[in-house]
Amino acid sequence: MSKFSIDLGVIGLGYVGLPLVVESTNSGLSVFGFDNNSEKINDLNNGNSPIEDISDNELKESLSNGLLLSDSPEQLKDCEHIVISVPTPLTDYQPDLSYVKEAAKSIGENISKEQIVILESTTYPGTTIEVLIPEIEEVSGLKAGKDFYVGYSPERIDPGNEVWGFKNTPKVISGIDETSTEKIKEFYEKIIDEVVVVSGTREAEMVKLLENTYRHVNIAFINELAVLCNMLEIDIWEVIDAAKTKPFGFESFRPGPGVGGHCIPIDPNYLSFKTRQIGKPVRFVELAQEINNTMPTYIVGRVLEMMNKLGKPMNNSSILLFGVAYKKDISDTRESPALHIIENLQSQGVNIGFYDPFVDELDTSVPINKEKDLSKISKYDLILFHTPHSQFEEINFEEIEVPIFDATGVEYLKNSERI
Ligand SMILES: NC(=O)c1ccc[n+]([C@@H]2O[C@H](COP(=O)([O-])OP(=O)(O)OC[C@H]3O[C@@H](n4cnc5c(N)ncnc54)[C@H](O)[C@@H]3O)[C@@H](O)[C@H]2O)c1
Repeated sequence: MSKFSIDLGVIGLGYVGLPLVVESTNSGLSVFGFDNNSEKINDLNNGNSPIEDISDNELKESLSNGLLLSDSPEQLKDCEHIVISVPTPLTDYQPDLSYVKEAAKSIGENISKEQIVILESTTYPGTTIEVLIPEIEEVSGLKAGKDFYVGYSPERIDPGNEVWGFKNTPKVISGIDETSTEKIKEFYEKIIDEVVVVSGTREAEMVKLLENTYRHVNIAFINELAVLCNMLEIDIWEVIDAAKTKPFGFESFRPGPGVGGHCIPIDPNYLSFKTRQIGKPVRFVELAQEINNTMPTYIVGRVLEMMNKLGKPMNNSSILLFGVAYKKDISDTRESPALHIIENLQSQGVNIGFYDPFVDELDTSVPINKEKDLSKISKYDLILFHTPHSQFEEINFEEIEVPIFDATGVEYLKNSERI
């Protein structure tokens, strides 16, 4: 019989933490969620979910099944397991672990002996041992491995993915010692179908950076080929479609307007930060960043070419962005290439509107117009198709007379100008 009254406490209730508290409650665990954003806690406690993967009804059901949410960390002391899922952004292009340290402080102030602490935020190898543990130990006066247990488990959630979700995506786990690893494995086995154990926290931290850097580099590679194929007058989409018929040794990636979100543009910087400590750059990361960062400018250049062909000057023209989220079927616009594209077009005197059923407003320096439906679409000189939300498949684009530049290569816009 456990001495704890709550199975799981989660710090940080965003894209990672909220699904974790809801799914764990569904799996029959007693769960406490702490987020220091009081407004968010209020909204969540009123049953309003800010993310697409968790519906308001799912959240309400979890709340009625005992999920406790608070903007105060005290109840962490009653939790057997504590998962940290706070942001790990870049500040001045450097890893910013201030949120992890703040979370560690909340744990240190509310710790109970025998607790199991797991970091899930994406970070560079060494963070659990060099940053998280010293902070908890200093605040609490307790010793990791003796008084409490610690591990790292990367989060692989793919917002908007309807096939691979919380339960069926294998979970990599690690601990600072054998007992920690065993306890953490036992915990995740209660809520996830397959648990993969690695030998230490640094290996587990590195797994996440390998996965996301792999995507970042391959996206950059296909983006570079798309630009070159356009210059060579070769249809990159035909090439990709044919290449992906190879049943082995090839995984297809798609060109696009750039990379966005909280992971792909940011995580590789955590890897570079670590390797620079041993005097080595990750050359692939630097090149991939350079290429992916130029994609919004490339798209603007292609739009300019198209407008020239249409005989329309950019200045005072109107362009509608179809989709502004960084990827399909979600509302997240963090680091979205759309933001760079909009800024660039605005600097050339273009009036911008956007149509994105997932996004209510966009934080741009010059305010832009949100189109709620397509009734006023004919006032635009060009549509820039940026994010291929699934519901756009229902639109009959043949009926739309405005010329379209498609930065995503979707099947149903085959007759438009494409990246
Ligand atoms: N979003 C994804 O798809 C994804 C996928 C895998 C991994 N990750 C990683 O998971 C981590 C969390 O990302 P996210 O997208 O869920 O972030 P998010 O911004 O959506 O949510 C983080 C939450 O933490 C809260 N918070 C910040 N500091 C806090 C503190 N000291 N105490 C309590 N709450 C605090 C914020 O108010 C916010 O609600 C990051 O390291 C990210 O890289 C994200």
